[in-house]
Amino acid sequence: MHHTLIIDTDPGADDVIALLFAMAAPEALELQALTAVAGNVPLAKTSRNALLACEWAGRPDIPVYAGAERPLQRTPIYAANIHGREGIIGVDVHEPATPLAEGHAVDYLIRTLRTAPERSVTLAMLGPQTNLALALAQAPEIVRGLRELVLMAGAHFNGGNITPTAEFNVFADPHAAEAVLKCGVPITMLPLDATHKILTSDERIARLRGIGNRAGVIVADILDAYAPQEMQHYDMPGGPVHDATVIAYLLQPSLFSGRLINVEVDSREGMGFGQTVADWHGSLKRPANVNWIADGDAQGFFDLLAAHVARLP
Ligand code: BDR
Ligand code: CA
Repeated sequence: MHHTLIIDTDPGADDVIALLFAMAAPEALELQALTAVAGNVPLAKTSRNALLACEWAGRPDIPVYAGAERPLQRTPIYAANIHGREGIIGVDVHEPATPLAEGHAVDYLIRTLRTAPERSVTLAMLGPQTNLALALAQAPEIVRGLRELVLMAGAHFNGGNITPTAEFNVFADPHAAEAVLKCGVPITMLPLDATHKILTSDERIARLRGIGNRAGVIVADILDAYAPQEMQHYDMPGGPVHDATVIAYLLQPSLFSGRLINVEVDSREGMGFGQTVADWHGSLKRPANVNWIADGDAQGFFDLLAAHVARLP
């Protein structure tokens, strides 16, 4: 499957793994740029971490644009307790050699999607969806240039990971998620329902480390630090690699299964704030707006990830 791709991201430990994965597949994923957003940690760190991912992948040529510093309406929240103070738990960070691209990520998205051929660009979204929501508000016609949105976002059968019902990326900016879900572009969502079924094991991490390159060590170091806290909190046998499932979906959608359903976001203050209301059984008879992924082939995912990480420096 070939995609002209932009990745919007808030690195983030699992974001970094997703970015390395994507940059290892240049024949399938023609990566135009990364757009960074505040999320797991503040924007200065997410945009720096995006540059570091490019450096580690040997792709400093990929432009990284910094975008929204805060959500549309709600008070900013971060997840440094999970991803570490610098946003990449398990790995030392440094100042990247390459600077950020000039200009704001939202301007980049508008400029690029306005002039792109009709339905040509896939946008992978690995963090809160603030950048695209801002771009849509300023220039709604940009939907023409979009082929598909693939989001790591939401939770239904699994329950949430930041509140009992809400998943972090949606909870961090529910108003942005609402705008994106209504935009009319085909959307695939990889929610916690799927990502909590695609889990690390000691053997899977050891295989990544055993590749013997720098990228394999980085991915293994991140997972060794990130997985245990998730395993403990959710009593799971391994840790998820949330955002990397988006890249696996782009490369090999047959690894995943889901259903076209209606999904809406609760953006009212209260216990349901940031919840994705996923109408799996079609009870509301509302039009389907999301391909909701409910399951995935875990071994197939880790085989694909390892094969790609092996291509990196
Ligand atoms: C999502 O939240 C972030 O902490 C992760 O990077 C991922 O995008 C999982 O809920
Ligand atoms: Ca993320």
